[in-house]
This record gives sequence, structure tokens and C-alpha cells, in this order.
Amino acid sequence: MKQILVVISACLLLLSCGAGNSKSPNDASNGTGTNSLSYDPNRGEGKFKNVSVSPSLDTAMASNGEKVFSVKCSSCHKLTEEKLVGPGWKGVTKRFSAEWIMNFITNTDEMLNKDPKAQAQLEICLVRMPNQNLSDDDARALYEFQRKNDDVK
Ligand code: HEC
Repeated sequence: MKQILVVISACLLLLSCGAGNSKSPNDASNGTGTNSLSYDPNRGEGKFKNVSVSPSLDTAMASNGEKVFSVKCSSCHKLTEEKLVGPGWKGVTKRFSAEWIMNFITNTDEMLNKDPKAQAQLEICLVRMPNQNLSDDDARALYEFQRKNDDVK
């Protein structure tokens, strides 16, 4: 009996690891392309696949981002590590890729439904971040402002 249990749990382990890493080349063929197996937690779900980010800060873009921040985000996000309604932004660009952040802020509902890290924050914050109706340029500028806040020069 014991042996059977060991075998079963070994199978389960194998299965769970396999599911997490599998990127089946056939994912697109089912027509949806959005099933949980094809979800990439580093990139998130949304239109941004490959954001080009230069190592040094684009100061003009960052200051545009700061303007959007004060209008649309500052009521819920602080620039420190401290939580307000949502998580503080200090270090956010180190926790997530540019693609993840830009997909999250332009496709918030879908990301909250799919993404384990976003869901973990939802459990802590108890508020669902509302969709912010950002343009692609707004999203990119906000990311640049977050980089500035994370000391990119
Ligand atoms: C009404 C409050 C509210 C507003 C306004 C808001 N957020 Fe959020 N945000 C949240 C909450 C709450 C979370 C945590 C996830 C959740 O519970 O939905 C979050 C999470 C995030 C995250 C993920 C951060 C992490 O550490 O997990 C990013 C990035 C983010 N918001 C960016 C923005 C941007 C950019 C704006 C402005 C355009 C904005 N938010 C406006 C409440 C808000």
C-alpha cells in the first residue's frame, strides 16, 4: 500500500512540473490561444509581447508617465514600498517585466483572472484594481516613470 502511494505521488509531482513548463507548439491550433497552459507568467496576457527598453532612462517619457500617475494612479499607489489601496511601487520594475506591467495595466481584468501574482496581491489588497483606460503610450510612459522611481538613470 505504501509503495502504491509513493508511486502515485511521484506521478503527481511529475505531472504538476510538466504542466507548469509545457509550451506546446500546438497551443495556437486550438483557436483560443488563451488557455491556462499557454499563459506565460513572465509576460502576462495582453498585447505587449516585446517591449524595447533602453538601459538608460528616457526622461521625457518618464515625466509624461509621472503626469498620468498623478491623475490616474496616485490615489491608490504610493511610490514607496508601502501599500495604500494597491501595492507600493518601489521595486515593481524588479518584480515584473515591462511586458507584464504594461499588459497588467492595459488588460487588468483578464490578468487578475489569470495571473497568480496579481491574484496574490488581490488577496492582500481586497480591492480589484479597476481598468484605467490607458493608451499604449500612457502604459509605456508609466513603465518609464516606474523605472525612474526604481533609480534607473
Ligand atoms: C482604485 C485603486 C487603484 C487605482 C486607481 C490603480 N490601481 Fe493599480 N492596483 C490596485 C490594487 C488593489 C492592486 C493589487 C491587485 C488587485 O487587487 O487588483 C494593484 C496592482 C497594480 C500593479 C501590480 C503591482 C504589484 O506589485 O503587484 C501595477 C503595476 C499597478 N497596479 C499599476 C497601476 C497604474 C499604472 C495605475 C494608474 C494608471 C493604477 N495601478 C491605478 C489598485 C489601484
